[in-house]
Amino acid sequence: MIREHAVVVGGTRGLGLVIVERFLARGFAVTVLSRRPCEKHRENPLVRHVAVDLEKLSDFDEVDGDYLSGRPIRYLAFAQRFRGQGDPWQGEIQVGLTATRVLIEGLVDRFAETGDRAIAAVSSVYAEFVGGSQPVGYHVVKAGLNAMTRYYAWSLGGRGIRMNAVMPLTYIKDESRAFYQSQGAINDLYRRLVPLQRMGEAGDNADVVDFLCSERAAFITGQSLFVDGGVSIVWPEETASKFSA
Ligand SMILES: NC(=O)c1ccc[n+]([C@@H]2O[C@H](COP(=O)([O-])OP(=O)(O)OC[C@H]3O[C@@H](n4cnc5c(N)ncnc54)[C@H](OP(=O)(O)O)[C@@H]3O)[C@@H](O)[C@H]2O)c1
Repeated sequence: MIREHAVVVGGTRGLGLVIVERFLARGFAVTVLSRRPCEKHRENPLVRHVAVDLEKLSDFDEVDGDYLSGRPIRYLAFAQRFRGQGDPWQGEIQVGLTATRVLIEGLVDRFAETGDRAIAAVSSVYAEFVGGSQPVGYHVVKAGLNAMTRYYAWSLGGRGIRMNAVMPLTYIKDESRAFYQSQGAINDLYRRLVPLQRMGEAGDNADVVDFLCSERAAFITGQSLFVDGGVSIVWPEETASKFSA
């Protein structure tokens, strides 16, 4: 049986791992790019891990393309984030932007020639808003990712390849669930802050990526979509008066 093929960059944990699960649930074979393989999928014949350190990636030829070249790609998702020790500005730009560009331009000729094809990038609310919990490089990367989304949506549109981005706020991941469950004050803050009165979950993000990487989104391209429970629609004065009441 020939399976459809998706590639997920940064699909070994956090939000990316749940994106991989969504593709597997649809019967896809999934190639995951990151530094280390995920234990959960080590024995899964449908998941192939390609080891690559995006901090060092400047040329697509450095990626092991043997496996990638045999299977036309239908969907490509980016969920990596800089988690290195070095300079955060250079690290964020390299892992978040440069590596994304190198991979898109290296993989574009390996996409299927017909049918729905798409790229999805996990951006952030920090593409549009400012906050002290992330460095300036992270803000620049996420804004740049949204610009890249528009650029490639435009330049690859004629080839039938769509590109969109999702912009989550702080999400609960499997790895952080216990922490957030023990933090009543943070949960209470999000209940008051978010119109939908809860924190986001990794699955909320994966569901949107899953939709954008499907025929149901066949006429959507170049968009960056807030997936934030409605926080971005609220005028800050409203939030300030609610918290000072
Ligand atoms: N978590 C949130 O609440 C949240 C909110 C808004 C936006 N986001 C965005 O969502 C995406 C995923 O975030 P996350 O919190 O789920 O991240 P995470 O848990 O830290 O996972 C990061 C992924 O990127 C890979 N990665 C990191 N450095 C790499 C490198 N140098 N080379 C290759 N792969 C590398 C990791 O695999 P290896 O370690 O094996 O390399 C891992 O698979 C990011 O783009 C983040 O900015 C997250």
